[in-house]
Amino acid sequence: MMKKVLAAVLVTMMAATLLCACSPQKNARLARLKIGVTIYDESDTFLSEMVACFKEDAEMLADENTSVSVTVRGAEDSQRMQNDGVESFIDEGCNVLCVNLVDRTAPSAIIDMAKEHNIPVIFFNRELVAEDLMQWDRLYYVGARAKQSGKMQGELAADAIKKDSRIDRNNDGKIQYVLLSGEPGHQDAIIRTETVVSTLEEQGIRLERLSFQVANWNRAQAQNRMNQMIQQYRSDIELVLSNNDDMALGAIDAYDKSNVTETDRPCVFGIDGTAVGLEAVKEGKLAGTVYNDKEGQALSMARLALAAFSGKGMAQLDLEDGKYIYLPYYKVTAENVSQFPMTDGNADISLQTG
Ligand code: BGC
Ligand code: CA
Repeated sequence: MMKKVLAAVLVTMMAATLLCACSPQKNARLARLKIGVTIYDESDTFLSEMVACFKEDAEMLADENTSVSVTVRGAEDSQRMQNDGVESFIDEGCNVLCVNLVDRTAPSAIIDMAKEHNIPVIFFNRELVAEDLMQWDRLYYVGARAKQSGKMQGELAADAIKKDSRIDRNNDGKIQYVLLSGEPGHQDAIIRTETVVSTLEEQGIRLERLSFQVANWNRAQAQNRMNQMIQQYRSDIELVLSNNDDMALGAIDAYDKSNVTETDRPCVFGIDGTAVGLEAVKEGKLAGTVYNDKEGQALSMARLALAAFSGKGMAQLDLEDGKYIYLPYYKVTAENVSQFPMTDGNADISLQTG
């Protein structure tokens, strides 16, 4: 009897030892990808949607060998705060950084920290100059070509003007327009503004610029600017070209609050295809927009994060110059708007500040 008990105890002990020996090994095989994402401003509509998609995509890349976690910080439009946030990410053990720079001309502090700790950095949406990206071989960029979006917006506007003679309301053969610009210095603001105007001209549209206003990508600021322009130009404005959907919607808000009748309102064009932007195209409030492929950018960034971490699968990503991934834009009008995802990717990204 005693022998039996002893044997049973022994077997249990051996099993326990085996179990113990087993579990740490299993843990050791589990690679932990910890991604720190920082965006310039937590209230930016396009970026909130894009990062929500990214979180989902990155977490889906986890498998039995790799666990994935994503932490997002907003930088409240301060480069200093963003640099501190990146330092915290590194202290917390992040092994890939995704950085949407506040100041795209000031990436050095972040690059230096990343290099020192050998942590790859994927910059996105706010494009740094090529020389900065060349500083180290573990730096990448994911985004879209600003020029293409400006050209597409110009083509959409030119098509509308050619199709509908009522847009030239005063019949003077010229289109009186105002332009709402994103942040000065942002590649998308500079290049979209340049290209939309040159494209319209190339398409044979005669233009007269009434005003150029900076509204920093922001809906409320655009509403303010548009209000002032409505006071000044009343029904003279025939076309509003906006560097993004949020500002285009701000312009529409201003008209909705004004006493300008429907027939005296301009045609408005945006860029992004955010959930609210697409909705406005569907309702006919926005004449058109250009889809900034947040799903494509998010998925490419997630795949790149995993490849940069694991060292596997980089070749399949087809990087330009070993560094860049650019996703194409798409034209959106009332005719094809239903083909675009009208969700905001559950834009709740449970942000931390820093
Ligand atoms: C988007 C804007 C956004 C900006 C932020 C642009 O590509 O079109 O909506 O505010 O990026 O950097
Ligand atoms: Ca006119």
